[in-house]
Amino acid sequence: MTALYANGHRRFSALPWRSATRAAALLAVVAMATVYASPQSPKPDASSSREAFLQVYKVFTSPRCQNCHPAGDSPLQGDDSHVHLQNVRRGKDGHGVYGMRCDTCHQTTNLPGEHMPPGNSKWSLPFPDHKMVFVGRSPAELCRQLKDPKQTGDRSLQKLLEHVSSDDLVGWAWDPGAGRTPPPLSRAETVAQMKIWVDGGGACPQ
Ligand code: HEC
Ligand code: HEC
Repeated sequence: MTALYANGHRRFSALPWRSATRAAALLAVVAMATVYASPQSPKPDASSSREAFLQVYKVFTSPRCQNCHPAGDSPLQGDDSHVHLQNVRRGKDGHGVYGMRCDTCHQTTNLPGEHMPPGNSKWSLPFPDHKMVFVGRSPAELCRQLKDPKQTGDRSLQKLLEHVSSDDLVGWAWDPGAGRTPPPLSRAETVAQMKIWVDGGGACPQ
């Protein structure tokens, strides 16, 4: 600072301009460093989020998923999602009613052969107080439902994403047994699209 006053008028008036230039250059370097140092690419925007949801929607409303996420209390069957034969019902815990429990016929793994019961140790419908209906929902409706904690049993979007990427009952859909078409996207692609949807703020189609 002493030097500043000792160096006379010309130098003194030139300085603020120079330091401003330097400050600007420094800021630019800091900004660039921030961009390059940041581990993620920029957050997806709302429109890519909405687009991604439409992909996720195709999977959720495919027969392999929606057959266990029906509007009523009967599970559905087959690629045409017809009502489950034998008058099977949801029951109080999603595992069927007395004498017609899911595990009477559904084992822990798929039984070989067409029209044989598929299997998983958790084979059941969602609870009656959180039916998690996918059948008949429009993209906008399903999107809003998945964001409503009252309808998802308090799951956050992050928890839903984890459920789809790691739950083994969800995973069954990609190994459904003879005569059943898997969902239109692979599991990895479904999770990737769902992540774009969530990271972009969970935007909903109109
Ligand atoms: C009496 C035996 C029986 C009981 C009880 C039973 N199921 Fe099934 N279920 C079957 C058979 C057999 C199939 C295979 C039908 C086919 O592929 O044509 C099947 C298929 C299904 C499918 C179709 C899978 C798909 O994507 O096509 C779902 C979903 C299902 N059952 C859910 C349930 C649930 C949930 C319960 C209990 C609430 C239950 N079932 C109880 C015999 C039964
Ligand atoms: C055999 C029946 C069955 C099949 C097949 C099935 N689900 Fe589910 N799903 C359930 C049950 C039961 C629950 C509730 C259990 C829980 O919340 O952990 C559930 C819960 C969910 C949830 C949590 C919903 C919420 O609102 O909290 C999501 C998301 C989900 N399923 C997605 C899928 C997708 C995607 C597929 C297909 C790739 C699928 N499910 C296939 C039975 C099934």
